[in-house]
Amino acid sequence: MKISVVGTGYVGLVTGVCLSEIGHDVTCIDTDISKIDKMRQGQSPIYEPGLEELMVKNINEGRLHFTNVHKEGFENSEVVFIAVGTPQLPNGSANLQYIEAVAEQIAQEVTTDVVVVTKSTVPVGTNYRVEKIIRENLKNDVKISIASNPEFLREGSAVQDTFNGDRIVIGTDNAETAAILEEMYKPLNIPVFKTDISSSEMIKYASNAFLATKISFINEISNICEKLGANVEDVANGMGYDQRIGRNFLNAGIGYGGSCFPKDTHALVQIAGGVEHDFELLRSVIQVNNNQQRLMVDKIVSRFGNLEGKVISLLGLAFKPNTDDMREAASIVLAKELVAQGAKVKAYDPIAMANAKALLPEAVTYEKSVSGVLQNADAAVIITEWDEFKNMNLKDLHKVMNEAVVFDGRNCFDEKTVTEAGIEYHSVGRKSIYTSKSLINS
Ligand code: UDX
Ligand code: UDX
Repeated sequence: MKISVVGTGYVGLVTGVCLSEIGHDVTCIDTDISKIDKMRQGQSPIYEPGLEELMVKNINEGRLHFTNVHKEGFENSEVVFIAVGTPQLPNGSANLQYIEAVAEQIAQEVTTDVVVVTKSTVPVGTNYRVEKIIRENLKNDVKISIASNPEFLREGSAVQDTFNGDRIVIGTDNAETAAILEEMYKPLNIPVFKTDISSSEMIKYASNAFLATKISFINEISNICEKLGANVEDVANGMGYDQRIGRNFLNAGIGYGGSCFPKDTHALVQIAGGVEHDFELLRSVIQVNNNQQRLMVDKIVSRFGNLEGKVISLLGLAFKPNTDDMREAASIVLAKELVAQGAKVKAYDPIAMANAKALLPEAVTYEKSVSGVLQNADAAVIITEWDEFKNMNLKDLHKVMNEAVVFDGRNCFDEKTVTEAGIEYHSVGRKSIYTSKSLINS
């Protein structure tokens, strides 16, 4: 099948590359010519495990192409995906200007019958708006049909998720359109759930809001556990055995970040508000997350009192491991707050440092290795659970740090490992572990 994908961000590029891998002829379109040049040479503009290998393979096999000229990309396409960003506006709602721009391009440039599929996360009703824009501006005598097909892939495992998804949701009011898309996805062998357009649009928001709720719920439980001397990991494990609950997305930490949960929860509050429904529960989920991102700062302050001149190392900056994405990362909140309190902040991330520099305060300095960032530090804060940090030998911290004090925002280590290493350790929803020396200091 001949397919084009407009927008080569995390979602669009992964979708395009994976569709070419299952045998389709795919053209990825993006307005950013420097990105197109890179991708034509088989280089991915984003860090996503396994993506570049598949890009190179499918470019070489002649199934994957890149262009900044929409008309060229749309030529003979049976399916056009819209996968441009839908960033958050100041009032929390989704900015649809890029979606609308693409709809206009489609109206002007398609010369054959086509199914227009929205992959971007868009408020309920947007697909109908896209359809209206296309129909009102349609230049050629062609048949257009519309479908919503939300994406559920996670950054860092997006390729894997695309091939092993739990479901494919197809929202359309037209059985023929559904059949075309079902056929297109057939090689993936993933269950397809068909519904109407509005429900499909809502499925994406409801799924992300539910997952964010699970995270905020366990984070609240973790804060109570800390005060009561319980262990949130054990609580989550015990809860997770119940199949009605499930263990996934019950990892307490320093809050959720990324390009989806923060934006989509705000957008759903706005969508609900638009129909005069106050989504109280989701507003609390957002508030809990904001508090949670600040949690480690409060712990560091209560441990040291004054942070003036203290050297604090940030281990990990990306919003989650295996990505270079810094959008809404907790590291931004932490770094700003620590710098404001007079701390000397050093940072290291295996992949995300280039992206982080534009978002973190200028006073932050960057190191090329874990040992570099820990050198002469008064405290280390684990923000992202990269394997490189999880595999650290904690005993080595005594050699490089001023004092081996670790604040672990991702619960990377168990009590036994920490106690054996003899470090001071503060995690989330679990008892702090002190050395005899640090007990005297604190
Ligand atoms: C995606 C989805 O689109 C968004 O709705 C979802 O909620 C999160 O994931 P993402 O892939 O992360 O967004 O977007 P981004 O990385 O911002 O990339 C969008 C791409 O579209 C960029 O490469 C940009 O250059 C391109 N673009 C934008 C166009 O080609 N045309 C435009 O008119 C606007
Ligand atoms: C999410 C959804 O999972 C995906 O289905 C959707 O298409 C896009 O948004 P993503 O944001 O890429 O994916 O990553 P995800 O693994 O969901 O993590 C999001 C955030 O939640 C990260 O900051 C992560 O650290 C945090 N998280 C996740 C927790 O704090 N605890 C958990 O148990 C799980």
